[in-house]
Amino acid sequence: MLGGRQHVAVESTAASEAWAIVAGALADGGDLLVLTGAGISAESGVPTFRGPEGYWTIGSRNYHAQDLATAAAFRRMPRDIWRWYLFRRGVCRAAQPNAGHYALVALERALPGRFTLVTQNVDGLHLRAGSSRDTTLQIHGNIDFLRCARECTAELFEMPEGFDTFGRDDPLDDAAFARLVCPHCDGPARPHVLWFDEYYDEPRFRADSAMAAARDAAVLVVVGTAGATNLPTQIGLAVARAGRPIIDINTDDNPFAELAARTDGRAVRGNAATLLPALHTALVQLHIGRSC
Ligand code: OAD
Repeated sequence: MLGGRQHVAVESTAASEAWAIVAGALADGGDLLVLTGAGISAESGVPTFRGPEGYWTIGSRNYHAQDLATAAAFRRMPRDIWRWYLFRRGVCRAAQPNAGHYALVALERALPGRFTLVTQNVDGLHLRAGSSRDTTLQIHGNIDFLRCARECTAELFEMPEGFDTFGRDDPLDDAAFARLVCPHCDGPARPHVLWFDEYYDEPRFRADSAMAAARDAAVLVVVGTAGATNLPTQIGLAVARAGRPIIDINTDDNPFAELAARTDGRAVRGNAATLLPALHTALVQLHIGRSC
């Protein structure tokens, strides 16, 4: 019991110190950069990528998400990869944004022209919460869109109708599979996501814009990511190199905690859906940004 109480006290001290660091960095009109990962959507019921539900069965084999989210897997078994993405998309569409997503919308409105959100999430929940398309950089794509697998055009297309709910064991029959095509060339279409064996770029994934935001940021708040992907790591390193503080919000330890320590930032342990509203409230109380 005593141990539990001490734990809570330490957490809340880390949180209030973290919010003061963010406020201090923003006090002179600097920019806030927020980087989110799957953890922010966990409380909306979207399974995290590397969590226990991030697997998929094809035939008699169990695959990890990391094995399936590749262009090579799509070339080998496009129908099965589509089934996995259609199932994940159905889960994302059934989910609702949570208080963490809404707190970021409030922060964006409180800091007009001074706020950038970089998200690894393809679930679209930030946009559905009200984050603006201009300041939200979806660096791993968005599962609601598809594009030509042969790259006849860089255009993105909305998912055809009829795929909004897709059960884990639903088959993708020939007629349905035949509808997942590029409207330009009638060739195969693919989900608009970045796969592990592919590269970030600016036109599709806003990679240069994300790095520019990192170089300009007065402070970086990292939320719910395991820190296992390249561009987010580069963003953290760029902020650290510029001598700006990093705050890491996560239920568990991860590589950004070390960067937070190195930059005189803080690692705050807890749920994003609780901690982000607390950050917003603290900034309002400290008169940072416009109240809204
Ligand atoms: P992961 O599933 O790898 O990590 C989720 C992180 O969220 C972990 O560090 C958890 O501790 C943390 N977490 C879980 N619940 C949380 C909560 N309620 N509040 C705060 N934190 C919580 O997901 P990502 O790091 O986002 O990319 O994965 C990054 C990328 O890896 C994904 O975008 C995907 C995958 O490759 C592509 O598809 C290209």
